[in-house]
Amino acid sequence: MIGVANGQPVSISGLGCHVPERVLTNEELSTLVDTSDEWIVTRTGIRERRIAAQDEALSDIALPACKDALEQAGVPPAEIDLVLVATVTPDMAFPATAAILADELGMPDAAAYDLSAGCTGFMYAIAQAYGMIAAGLVEKALVVGGDLLSKILDWTDRSTLVLFGDGAGAVVLERVERGGFLGFELGADGGGGAHLWLPGSGSRHFDDPDKFVKMNGREVFKFATRVMVTSAEAVLEACGRSVDEIDLYVQHQANVRIIDHATRKLGIPDEKVVIDVDRYGNTSSGSIPLALADAAADGRLRPGALVLMTGMGAGLTWGSALIEWTHDTNGAPR
Ligand SMILES: CC(C)(COP(=O)(O)OP(=O)(O)OC[C@H]1O[C@@H](n2cnc3c(N)ncnc32)[C@H](O)[C@@H]1OP(=O)(O)O)[C@@H](O)C(=O)NCCC(=O)NCCS
Repeated sequence: MIGVANGQPVSISGLGCHVPERVLTNEELSTLVDTSDEWIVTRTGIRERRIAAQDEALSDIALPACKDALEQAGVPPAEIDLVLVATVTPDMAFPATAAILADELGMPDAAAYDLSAGCTGFMYAIAQAYGMIAAGLVEKALVVGGDLLSKILDWTDRSTLVLFGDGAGAVVLERVERGGFLGFELGADGGGGAHLWLPGSGSRHFDDPDKFVKMNGREVFKFATRVMVTSAEAVLEACGRSVDEIDLYVQHQANVRIIDHATRKLGIPDEKVVIDVDRYGNTSSGSIPLALADAAADGRLRPGALVLMTGMGAGLTWGSALIEWTHDTNGAPR
């Protein structure tokens, strides 16, 4: 799907993110499985990640991010009429984590549901919220991207364990006078789904005792290096913008080699690229909002900036959005 924004402009007016306190370093991981800091850094760029406590669920990590985003937007919770949570690790299958958060935040009039599109979830969710606001169905939306993948990893499998971390981000979307979202490109290839999947997680393999992430890393790597480029090119072309116009390039933080590959192929200078995979690992749906908050904190996410976001993940899915940033979100709380 590819679409160019039309009608009343819609933008992001508030941004927040939150990660668990516990830092897990590569050195510590190498005491759990047969790996090394050198292997992990060379192959992925990851140095450490955050891991949720045993009694922490997604809503616990997402709640502070939501509060920060709302405060920054200056939007009282009761004015939110849509809560969307992109995740593959909700508190539970139902009730939706979005409904739990809407209750905790005090949003009695909001529609609230979760959305599953793997690590691309945040891109899908902002596209959907954009569409509902632009169509006039809702006025203000709270969109959360977050995952606690540590809960569904096999802690004896070095091929997946070293890659992922926990975290969440939230954004408030609302109508603006000008600027905001320019277009979206989203896609899915279910044929490649078996390269990154969670057996025993639903009605197909409900009696499968294996509740952990399975991944064919090399196939996912090939897929990622392809779609990160094609999706970005597609949204730029649809919006009539060129690579040279991009001020900030925010990619899904899976592996610094994937990030570097797409950056080089597109010809985007390094200083316009956000990288925090070294500190957080791959936080799935949390990755793009966390990276936005990182860029806000270092002053690169400023009003007027043309921001390209691209993600990819289980499904296999991918997605890009182009936005002309409108609000002063510098120093977004973390
Ligand atoms: C997983 C990934 C880092 C592996 O890197 P790679 O360069 O492709 O490495 P390979 O899979 O070829 O493995 C090379 C060797 O390292 C070994 N290895 C795998 N994980 C290891 C680890 N954590 N520590 C040490 N060695 C490891 C492999 O067993 C293999 O050994 P062998 O050659 O004796 O068989 C890379 O394929 C990748 O990033 N894929 C994309 C994954 C992803 O982003 N998933 C989420 C998408 S949202």
